[in-house]
This record gives sequence, structure tokens and C-alpha cells, in this order.
Amino acid sequence: MSDFQAVAKVGEIPDPGKQVVEVDDRVIALFHVGGKYYALDDVCTHDGGPLAEGQLDGYQIACPRHGARFDIRDGRALTLPATRGTAAHEVRISGDDILVRLAD
Ligand code: FES
Repeated sequence: MSDFQAVAKVGEIPDPGKQVVEVDDRVIALFHVGGKYYALDDVCTHDGGPLAEGQLDGYQIACPRHGARFDIRDGRALTLPATRGTAAHEVRISGDDILVRLAD
């Protein structure tokens, strides 16, 4: 498992809000909802849609391509056409840094 890496500063992302960041050349969708941060691969498991460009609704992100919904807290797929979850990554706050550690 990789180390935590700083990807953004606290205060940069509104609540609710989202931002695309990169960790080790991997594109990650970082979400801020209810005072907490969540990180998912920015890749829809249906056909590779960029999740962070979709509509955020509570703890759900809707893929902008065909509308599959994912839970931002754990990456699980909630609606078709996606049937598999996308990877969820650990997020930690240190001072005013938002840190992400990639899941394997
Ligand atoms: S690519 Fe995301 S729903 Fe099809």
C-alpha cells in the first residue's frame, strides 16, 4: 500500500463539492460532503466515464455518461448500468492538508 500524499488544501473544495486530483499518475475524484472527504478512482466501471464531472447528490455521484450512481463513501455501484464498484481510497487530514492513500 502506498503512503499518504497531500493532494489539496482544506478550504479549497466547498461542502458539498468535488475536485479532480492526481496521486501517482492516477486520476482521483475527491469529494467533500457533510464535513468529511472521500476519494474514489475517477473512473466509472461501466465504460470509463469521468465520475467527478457528474452530478453530486448527497453521498451519491452520477456518472455523466449514462447515469450510473456510486456511493462516494465506499465506491460501491448503486444503479445500473454499472454493476461493479469503483476503487475507494483512504483520506486523512493533517493540518490544512488533505492526504490520500491509494488502495491497492
Ligand atoms: S460510463 Fe458511466 S454509466 Fe456508462
